[in-house]
Amino acid sequence: MEHLLAPLQAGNMTLSNRVIMAPMTRSRAEVTGNATSLMKEHYAARASAGLIITEGIAPSETGKGYCRTPVLDGPSRLAGWRAVTDAVHAGGGRIVAQAMHCGRISHAANKAPGAETVAPSAIQADGLMYTDVEGMRPFDEPRSLSTDEVVEVVGEYRRFALLAAEAGFDAVEVHATSGYLPAQFLSSGTNRRIDRYGGSVERRIAFPIEILEAMIDEIGADMVGLRICPGNTFNDLIDAHPGDVEETFRALLSTIRPMGLAYLHVIRRHEGPLDNLELARELHDGVLIANDSYDAVEADAEIEAGRCDAVSFGRHFLATPDLVARIASGQEPNRFDPRTLYTPGPDGYTELENPAGRHPT
Ligand SMILES: Cc1cc2nc3c(=O)[nH]c(=O)nc-3n(C[C@H](O)[C@H](O)[C@H](O)COP(=O)(O)O)c2cc1C
Repeated sequence: MEHLLAPLQAGNMTLSNRVIMAPMTRSRAEVTGNATSLMKEHYAARASAGLIITEGIAPSETGKGYCRTPVLDGPSRLAGWRAVTDAVHAGGGRIVAQAMHCGRISHAANKAPGAETVAPSAIQADGLMYTDVEGMRPFDEPRSLSTDEVVEVVGEYRRFALLAAEAGFDAVEVHATSGYLPAQFLSSGTNRRIDRYGGSVERRIAFPIEILEAMIDEIGADMVGLRICPGNTFNDLIDAHPGDVEETFRALLSTIRPMGLAYLHVIRRHEGPLDNLELARELHDGVLIANDSYDAVEADAEIEAGRCDAVSFGRHFLATPDLVARIASGQEPNRFDPRTLYTPGPDGYTELENPAGRHPT
């Protein structure tokens, strides 16, 4: 495991190993969107990861999609997150705040009263989402953002970067996949706009590009990362033509290349014509973090082969806070309990059914 356990420099961050904790929404924030002491405990227990990427955090109430998920939109949110970052740093770790605007993947019952659900175009996503108040509900019908409003949302990401730095985060990550707002702009099936944010590849990539530029302007490129998954159809994400995906991501990555981001975080795909890691290696010069369904052996081999520089692990980190030590000593991760992924309280979150060293998979 020498490659996976080797240190790595990513932007301004010195990572003590290449075992990254992938971002995972766990719905343990307050209903108001503030970070909780439970979250502090959860992340602090995983500080031995080379880097922790937090659950998706909405840059505004409008951007919130799921119940009990966090929001970072003003100074009143800082204390909760400062406690989290201090605890992770005290454990020797590094932590990145993931900016996640859900766009149309949202329901009004999950956000503050009056907060709208918005999207590049007024196209409702097919599917249901859980709400604490009303149970499973169809996704909201979104309202199409005006051109000026898109600029305002870019401003929300700018503010997010500033607040994240103030809260002590080492960097921010823009979530631009899985059917959320930046991905809705990138995909030709969900973006039917004819203004400067839609109608051509150059215009569809404009929204995520402007977000990155705004964040870089506030906190510097060495504190900004990006997460993508070309070809991902999660949350009813559709492209109008099969060839659009590669064209879009070639244009996006070529434009981003000179920015010098702290890292690019790429979810690989197991089917389809495009090899996402190969594409990213071709068009990105800096640190590349790979994700999806890795175990330690494959992750180490991928780094050795030069396919990526680090690997993020999602599900393995859920019930295995000491994943890095397990990998170092050749032990298996624990089983996680899927029933407690999004439930409130400590069960399956800070109180694990399978504590370290017991009931390995
Ligand atoms: C419970 C859960 C919540 C997730 N929430 C997010 C999220 O907020 N942001 C994100 O980018 N990905 C999210 N993901 C995707 C993970 O980051 C990761 O891509 C996925 O789990 C695959 O990695 P793995 O095979 O190592 O688990 C989530 C995954 C899980 C299991």
